[in-house]
Amino acid sequence: MNQTQHFSESNKERYLSELIDLLKIPSISADPAYKNEVQKCAESLAQGLTNIGIDKVEICQTAGNPIVYGEKIINPAKPTILVYGHYDVQPADPLDLWTSPAFEPVIKTTEKHPQGAIFARGACDDKGQMFMHVKAVESMLAANELPCNVKFMIEGEEEVGSENLAIFVKNEKERLKADVILVSDTGMLANDVPSITTGLRGLSYVEVEVTGPNRDLHSGLYGGCVANPINVLAQMIASLHDSTGKITIPGFYDKVIELSDEERAEMAKAPFSHEAYCEALDIEETMGEAGYSTMERGSIRPTLDVNGIWGGYTGEGAKTVIASQAFAKISMRLVPDQDPTEITNLFLTHFESIAPKGTRVKVKPHHGGEAAVTPIDSVGYKAASLAYEKSFGKKPIPVRSGGSIPIVAMFEKELGLKTILMGFGLDSDAIHSPNEHFGLFNFYKGIETIPYFYHYYTELTK
Ligand code: BES
Ligand code: MN
Ligand code: MN
Repeated sequence: MNQTQHFSESNKERYLSELIDLLKIPSISADPAYKNEVQKCAESLAQGLTNIGIDKVEICQTAGNPIVYGEKIINPAKPTILVYGHYDVQPADPLDLWTSPAFEPVIKTTEKHPQGAIFARGACDDKGQMFMHVKAVESMLAANELPCNVKFMIEGEEEVGSENLAIFVKNEKERLKADVILVSDTGMLANDVPSITTGLRGLSYVEVEVTGPNRDLHSGLYGGCVANPINVLAQMIASLHDSTGKITIPGFYDKVIELSDEERAEMAKAPFSHEAYCEALDIEETMGEAGYSTMERGSIRPTLDVNGIWGGYTGEGAKTVIASQAFAKISMRLVPDQDPTEITNLFLTHFESIAPKGTRVKVKPHHGGEAAVTPIDSVGYKAASLAYEKSFGKKPIPVRSGGSIPIVAMFEKELGLKTILMGFGLDSDAIHSPNEHFGLFNFYKGIETIPYFYHYYTELTK
């Protein structure tokens, strides 16, 4: 392993400048206007894999954005690690809130990253983290210390639901044969508090439309006489939570797995400062389901949030009008064993049932995904834990995350494989927000830790 770390160390400037080049490509999957950029990003990544000596590199076309695949089989008798990541990014807007342009990466220091962080869309989610794996494997190959086989599968549609990857995984079971899946697309508690993600929430996402009168109306002539779709939508949404913060959709909690008191006590050991949490967000108090801590609300409990709401007049000045329609986008984060399709249907039935007379409601389901949990007694988890202990000098804490990576549940279902989530981002890295960044410490720590995982995983499976 020493030669590997030595190689990483002496090539760290180049590793960073290659990441900067990758971050300059606006590979936004949500907006079809960036199709060429997405393709360009896939090509650049494929070239990068070829350059470090990966075999069978292929840009696999799908009905959507391509998947970049490559493998290095050193010995079929050795274990195989399948690395998953994504090269697509979220849209950068609102652009005016960025302190430097989203696709012109620059390094700046922050309170959490005194050694500097790279600012760009995708820096943390997920180009920076995915690229750590490419560079870690480069170092192991260059040092002749790759201890096992590796396969790369980097997709370009994670931020839009991974639908084509799901098809690819179903069709390519032979090619994707592996022993464990390794992903860096989550976070850790702090730079001096290493942690491993042991759970992800599922997702059900719907768009709703409330229609009232057949046209926009003068709010003086008709106000107070007909159902105002915006008023109605606001009331309907407000009624989705009760006064204790519980979701009121009948059946919503039926399949939720409650954690035992022991598990909750174990979770509560992770360091968490309510004060620092509020201060970082400029809020006076937190809010959520009664009876649960903030950490629990954001990981082991299902939630419902409006992500966008619109309708009526929103331009300059005042226009006295009752809109004919109102709209909202709503996400529900799910926990094991809630089924996203079932939850979407429960939502639909309930939402239609609470629409008052004089309105019509439409619910349009979007992509979703199931929650996932990783046991901490697996070989993969043990190897990851040893790897962190080696590079951070501290045993990592297992933490369940509130985010979603729907393909992880698919990996288990279709390939029968558990995923190890070795995330190196911080919650404060502003993923999906303006000024997304990734600490240089984190980038290099990832490149240092990953080879240890390969080493311990190979040793423990002997
Ligand atoms: N990498 C994130 C998910 C994540 C971030 C998990 C931090 C845990 C910690 C991923 O790219 C993402 O944004 N997922 C989406 C879901 C997807 C279906 C659009 C999400 O969680 O909103
Ligand atoms: Mn991601
Ligand atoms: Mn994301």
